[in-house]
Amino acid sequence: MNALRRWIVDDFERGAGRHDDPAVYGGPPGDPGLIGPGSMSWEINADLAAVAQAGLPAIVLEILHPSVVAGVEDLSNYREDPFQRARATLGYVLATTFGNTEAATAVIERVKHVHSFVNGTRPDGVSYRALDPELIAWVHTCIPWMILRVFEDTKRPLSQREKDRYLTEQAVIGRMGGAGWVPETAKELDDYVEAMRPRLSVNAQTREFIGFLMTSPFFPDLPEWVDRQLHRFTIYAGMSRAPQWAQELIGYDRPPMTTRVLTGPMLRLDAQRLRWAFGSPRYLQLAQQRAAGVVRPQAAAT
Ligand code: HEM
Repeated sequence: MNALRRWIVDDFERGAGRHDDPAVYGGPPGDPGLIGPGSMSWEINADLAAVAQAGLPAIVLEILHPSVVAGVEDLSNYREDPFQRARATLGYVLATTFGNTEAATAVIERVKHVHSFVNGTRPDGVSYRALDPELIAWVHTCIPWMILRVFEDTKRPLSQREKDRYLTEQAVIGRMGGAGWVPETAKELDDYVEAMRPRLSVNAQTREFIGFLMTSPFFPDLPEWVDRQLHRFTIYAGMSRAPQWAQELIGYDRPPMTTRVLTGPMLRLDAQRLRWAFGSPRYLQLAQQRAAGVVRPQAAAT
C-alpha cells in the first residue's frame, strides 16, 4: 500500500476503528454468517464509504425519538469519547453483516445485554427502556435507511428489488437485536418513516446532543477555527442525507450557500477517496474466504 493510501486508512481508523479481526470475520470455513455472500448486504455494506457516511445522519435521526435521546443523554458516555458510539455502531453493522455466525450472534447478544441497563424516565415523565421493540425498530431502521441513501448517491442507483432485498436481509439483524416488526421493503420503509414522524421531535435533550455535535472538536490536530469550519461543514453535509423534514426539525435546512454548493461533490469525492484507499476492505476479504471454505494457515494450525 503506498504512503498516501496508508495515511488515509490510518486517519480513518483513528476515528472509526479497525474492522479486520479474524476472530470475527474469519472463522469456520464455509460459514456464511447471518446473511452471506451474493446478498445485497454484502455488496452495499462492503462499501465502507457508504456505511461510514451514513453514520452521522443515522444517529441524528435516531435521537429525534425522545425516548432514544433520553437514553443516550442519561446513560451514554458520548461526551467523554464522541467517536466511541460511532465506532461501536460501525463495528455492529459490519460484524453482524460479515462476521461468522457465532461472532455476529455474540455481538448482538452483548449489545442487548448493554441495552438491558438502559432504562429510565424522560423529562416529560414517560418511562423508556432501550429494549422496547418499537425503539429498537426505529434505531435499527435509521441505519440501513441512511446507508441506502448514501450508497445510491455516491456509488450507483439501486432498483426497487435490490432495496427490498437489502432491507429484508438487514431485518434479520433488527429482529435478532430485539425489534418486533421492521420494514422489509422500500415501500414499507417509506410508510414506516411517515408513521413515525409524529413521534419525533426536538426537545432540550435533543438540542443538547446536537449542540455537542456542533462544538466538540472533530479535528483536534488542526487550528481551532479550521476545525470549527470543517466541523460545521461535516455536520451540514452529513445531515444533507436526512430527509428535508428532519433537517427542518433540527434547524439544519438552511446551510450557508458555499456549503450547499460544495456538499454533494465533496461527499462523493470523500467516498471515492475512501474506496480508493481501502480497496476491498479486509472484513470483506476475510468473510469471503471464510464463506468460500478457505482454511487460513493460522486457523488450520489451531
Ligand atoms: C437496533 C438498535 C440499536 C443498535 C444497533 C444499537 C447499538 C449500540 C451499540 C453498538 C452500543 C455500544 C455497546 C457497547 O458498549 O459495546 C450501544 C450502546 C448504547 N445504546 Fe444502543 N443501539 C440500539 C438501540 C438503542 C436504543 C433504542 C437506545 C435508547 C433508548 C439505545 C441507547 C444506548 C445507550 C445509552 C448506550 C450506551 C450504554 C453504555 O455505554 O452503558 N440504543 N448501542
